[in-house]
Amino acid sequence: MSATTPLLTIDNLCFDFGQTEKTIDSLELNVSKGEIVCILGASGCGKTTILNLIAGFLQPKSGSINLQSESGKKNSIGYIFQSDPLFPWRTVEGNLLLAFDLNRNTDRSKALETISQYLSMFHLNPQILKKYPSQLSGGMRQRVSIIQSLMFDPELLLLDEPFSALDYYTKLSLEEEFCQLVKEKNKSAILVTHDIEEAVSMGTRALIMSGGKLVKEFQIRANSNIRGSEEFAKTYREIWSELKTIISG
Ligand SMILES: Nc1ncnc2c1ncn2[C@@H]1O[C@H](COP(=O)(O)OP(=O)(O)OP(=O)(O)O)[C@@H](O)[C@H]1O
Ligand SMILES: [Mg+2]
Repeated sequence: MSATTPLLTIDNLCFDFGQTEKTIDSLELNVSKGEIVCILGASGCGKTTILNLIAGFLQPKSGSINLQSESGKKNSIGYIFQSDPLFPWRTVEGNLLLAFDLNRNTDRSKALETISQYLSMFHLNPQILKKYPSQLSGGMRQRVSIIQSLMFDPELLLLDEPFSALDYYTKLSLEEEFCQLVKEKNKSAILVTHDIEEAVSMGTRALIMSGGKLVKEFQIRANSNIRGSEEFAKTYREIWSELKTIISG
């Protein structure tokens, strides 16, 4: 894959749930390596549907979705849902070894070593490995479910409002940790969110969805993602002004 080839190319994508109105209408989107693309839009505008199409849970009516996986491997997409998909009957360790159990493409001790690196990256105490998901806080569970997806070593991460159920401080630190991880591991992500601050602080680009299309794009410059900075406030205002028009229109 050349440096300029996007990791994900979506071309003229159309989808409907059987109604006459298209949920996704001639949608175009490219995502390059290292990008965090945030998608914002009114409730019901089709954000989750796009993620489900990219993940292959839904089939396009027409158009194409191409993932230029560098490694050519199958598990190049990781999906992190709003509510964590941890198995309640498995311990945290059992949940994190899911990729290993399904693929067996490494040895167990290597998988455990990777888990231990991720735990430290996400500020989780290794003692939680023996616990069950029900014994963890919401923030811990969400961290564990992010690590569970990362254990499949996906190149593209899809996140559907992953931090919306968390308290404000946990949300802020997880957002930071996630951005750092995308950078360090050279991953890419599409993040669906209702939270403009989250989009400005985490995204490299923010896109607004309406009428089944991505109608507006905002580049988030390197220093505009610092909360509290004038640049941050300016980008926030620009996005809000656009969203307000769309939502009320
Ligand atoms: N399984 C389904 N069958 C029929 N219609 C559906 C189905 N899933 C979603 N829809 C409809 O498709 C549209 C897009 O839904 P989607 O879940 O993608 O919205 P969203 O932008 O993710 O909304 P939210 O911000 O509330 O999560 C909505 O009008 C919804 O009612
Ligand atoms: Mg949704």
